[in-house]
Amino acid sequence: MQVLAVASEIFPLIKTGGLADVAGALPEALGRQGVAVRTLVPGYPAVLGAVGKARKLVRYDDLFGAPATLLAAKVGDLDLLILDAPDFYARPGGPYGDAVGNEWADNWRRFAALGRVAADIAAGSITGWRPALVHAHDWQGAMAAAYMRFGPAHALPRVMTIHNLAFQGRFGADIFAALGLPPEAWGVDGVEYYGGIGFLKAGLVSADAITTVSPTYAHEICSPHDGMGLDGLIRGRADKLHGILNGIDTAIWDPATDKLIARPYTARALATRAANRRALEKRFGLGQDDSPLFIVISRLTWQKGMDLLVDALDHLVGLGGRIAVLGSGDHPIEGAFLAAADRHRGRVAVQIGYDEPLSHLMQAGGDAILIPSRFEPCGLTQLYGLRYGCVPVLARVGGLADTIIDANEAALSAGVATGLHFPANDAMALHGAIAKAVRLHGTAGTWPALQKSGMKADFSWTHSAAHYAMLFEQLVRRGA
Ligand code: ADP
Ligand code: GLC
Repeated sequence: MQVLAVASEIFPLIKTGGLADVAGALPEALGRQGVAVRTLVPGYPAVLGAVGKARKLVRYDDLFGAPATLLAAKVGDLDLLILDAPDFYARPGGPYGDAVGNEWADNWRRFAALGRVAADIAAGSITGWRPALVHAHDWQGAMAAAYMRFGPAHALPRVMTIHNLAFQGRFGADIFAALGLPPEAWGVDGVEYYGGIGFLKAGLVSADAITTVSPTYAHEICSPHDGMGLDGLIRGRADKLHGILNGIDTAIWDPATDKLIARPYTARALATRAANRRALEKRFGLGQDDSPLFIVISRLTWQKGMDLLVDALDHLVGLGGRIAVLGSGDHPIEGAFLAAADRHRGRVAVQIGYDEPLSHLMQAGGDAILIPSRFEPCGLTQLYGLRYGCVPVLARVGGLADTIIDANEAALSAGVATGLHFPANDAMALHGAIAKAVRLHGTAGTWPALQKSGMKADFSWTHSAAHYAMLFEQLVRRGA
């Protein structure tokens, strides 16, 4: 089966978060299930720079007012279709905004164009290749489903995956005319959303199936508390909703072969891991001792509960713990972390920024990874933590709840616990979890047991890719 995926990020070319990891790893895993995926991505400088020879497939003289070329290229295992539209994508900064984080004012046009081109491909714009199904990721890919539904490719099945309902792609109603959709696309069953236009909403009403990245998040988004205004729509389409847990790329994230860490190790020789701990302490200027070393690798935002964590740092240090933080995000939260590092030199260390290689060393050297998210569709850093023996201490929400077995008395004595849970959005519960982690870390034998059971857990893509493949097959068979 041939599938067209539409994504605004893809590892290793362009990444701001977990979406890139998923878009980068799922094609290979689906390939092993007999599903051949080509991924349409925007021609950002980082993407075009990574591509050697590209074939020109389709030329647009006027795509939303700009010239564009659809290119085909292979990068490693990835089979890419690249929308080269310099007016839209040849900019410094990130994929959605400038270097200081202001979103591009024409994001609607940049991602409507991506969707439009996906729908053209679905309708046969590429000579000799046509997908059997289109798989759109998040609001940036969502308009593919809307353009397909209201265009010539309306019979082709379309799947919409929600990675994060907080990002919806909302714009003013005034852009409707420029979208080039037929008049009937306006309205509650179309792109209209609370008087404006919602790209994700348009994708969700236009999709034949909706997936999200964990079973618990699939459940949560049906409620007003987590539905972010879309719960009514999602409940109405609950028979089309599937929670499919993300996997991880176990070749990239493998402590036995990882070239980005100080010293490779396996669960059988955990003592070797200490070299990574020492390297991490040195890298962050932390004191060298045996007290528990927590790590954070995260966007520093409200979603991730980072404001709660900042307030818990004095408590963490008071209990004898240390913490190394890598991340960037909201400026007040960044500032509060830096202030805590000043207060607790050698115990709290913070690096503001994005550093993929350093994130590997941190997972290899940390004792525990803290993830106090208020909501978390899936979360990947807890899965990397499991694989690297960096025990997850996390809020019991979304995919976090689905992937970790809490170290309660029963699970500890049965030897199946893999991490620590606490209720989300609760400062006292976070304090309690940190205290429990410090205590368990000091209890002979307990921590290595947690590490080992985590390292044994299988979160490779195999199972989830089979789930996607089954869903795709059903839709294509039904469509035919
Ligand atoms: P989200 O996509 O919501 O940010 P995920 O846990 O799904 O959360 O994915 C985050 C991804 O980005 C992981 O691969 C994580 O290791 C990586 N990451 C997040 N912040 C940083 C950072 N500052 N430096 C390096 N990698 C980071
Ligand atoms: C989003 C979510 C995160 C998820 C990732 C990949 O960024 O916030 O929880 O793991 O997408 O699906």
